[in-house]
Amino acid sequence: MKFFVDTANLNEIREAVELGVLDGVTTNPSLMAKEGIRGLNNVMAHYRQICEIVDGDVSAEVIATDFREMIREGEELAELHENIVVKIPMIRDGVKAIRYFSDKGIKTNCTLVFSAGQALLAAKAGATYVSPFVGRLDDIGADGLQLIEQIVQIYSNYGYETQVLAASVRHVPHLIQCAEIGADVVTCPLSVITGLLNHPLTDKGLATFLADHKKVNA
Ligand code: E4P
Repeated sequence: MKFFVDTANLNEIREAVELGVLDGVTTNPSLMAKEGIRGLNNVMAHYRQICEIVDGDVSAEVIATDFREMIREGEELAELHENIVVKIPMIRDGVKAIRYFSDKGIKTNCTLVFSAGQALLAAKAGATYVSPFVGRLDDIGADGLQLIEQIVQIYSNYGYETQVLAASVRHVPHLIQCAEIGADVVTCPLSVITGLLNHPLTDKGLATFLADHKKVNA
């Protein structure tokens, strides 16, 4: 299973790389805005910096919603760095753009996916990744993890190569259940990944080991 960190914060990305378990990064326009990155040149420079920190796929989202502009933006993003994956929303022109990039051998991440039907379309268009949003479905009282399960099943029925990238993963149980279901990738804040470290028996056991060592070595 691949771990992507869902942030545009360079320090958080560096910290995730240092942990030694990071496979990539996802960003979106809201995450870029949160870091105060504005203006095309600054946005492009920021993506380049992220790509230089991470040895793995970095999703950069197009802002356009019509086919021609998506292609123009996506090609510009893809030229920035070999790690860039063009992130495209699940809309009609988005599906056409995914097919276009797929035919050109440019990696894509189909985002804002909330149904199995949308995921099926993304796979048929040749998306590299499909991003179903687990947390946002939970937020409206639906079952985000059930959608991950459905998509994993459908892709396995037909051998689609599109990787299921569970997005909007908000806490440790989400991540563990995605792993149980067989999602190919999870993207989440670094705190969710470091949350995997925690167990009270580990802390208690370590404290006892160190105390016992101290007793005989005093
Ligand atoms: C990543 O690709 C998504 O944009 C992100 O995971 C959405 O997460 P959120 O629902 O917590 O904003």
